[in-house]
Amino acid sequence: MARPCGRPVPGTIPIDGLKEDEAFSTGKGADGQFVATIPGTVDEARLERGRQRYGIYCQPCHDARGDGKGSCFQRGNVPTASFHQEKILKYPDGQIFDVVTNGFGLMSGYRWPIPPADRWAIIAYVRELERKRRASAAGAPAGGK
Ligand code: HEC
Repeated sequence: MARPCGRPVPGTIPIDGLKEDEAFSTGKGADGQFVATIPGTVDEARLERGRQRYGIYCQPCHDARGDGKGSCFQRGNVPTASFHQEKILKYPDGQIFDVVTNGFGLMSGYRWPIPPADRWAIIAYVRELERKRRASAAGAPAGGK
């Protein structure tokens, strides 16, 4: 009896890692569209992990607040995206995952140094930075941080 094509042999692991959950490893759902939200729940531990990884991998360029005023901008005037711009605020979470995984324009991808779970944790933290900025913009007097 023939085995269905493409199915891994039970008990083996594909050479490019487990792909049990497409959304988790690609940021895209079965329909090929970016997923709107981070797979799984975002708790304190996940956010904290994201904050640490963000500090290592993103902050040097995107700065602590996500304004894109990090060292490449300061030293080389490299136009580095702010996470608080309308375009990025509207991105589905899966699209940010895609940028981090594959890169975008001047930014290279971080597929190899950052495992998928940490990429999602970073995105949770980026969303938190955006949420805090919006909350303070809504609540604070003009000119406030
Ligand atoms: C070496 C500097 C550098 C690092 C490190 C870096 N970025 Fe970027 N990033 C950039 C630059 C520069 C751009 C603008 C790219 C362009 O528009 O060509 C950018 C753009 C982006 C964008 C917007 C892409 C778009 O669709 O417009 C997102 C989202 C982003 N970065 C997220 C991240 C996250 C999250 C991390 C950490 C995992 C990270 N970046 C690490 C330099 C960096």
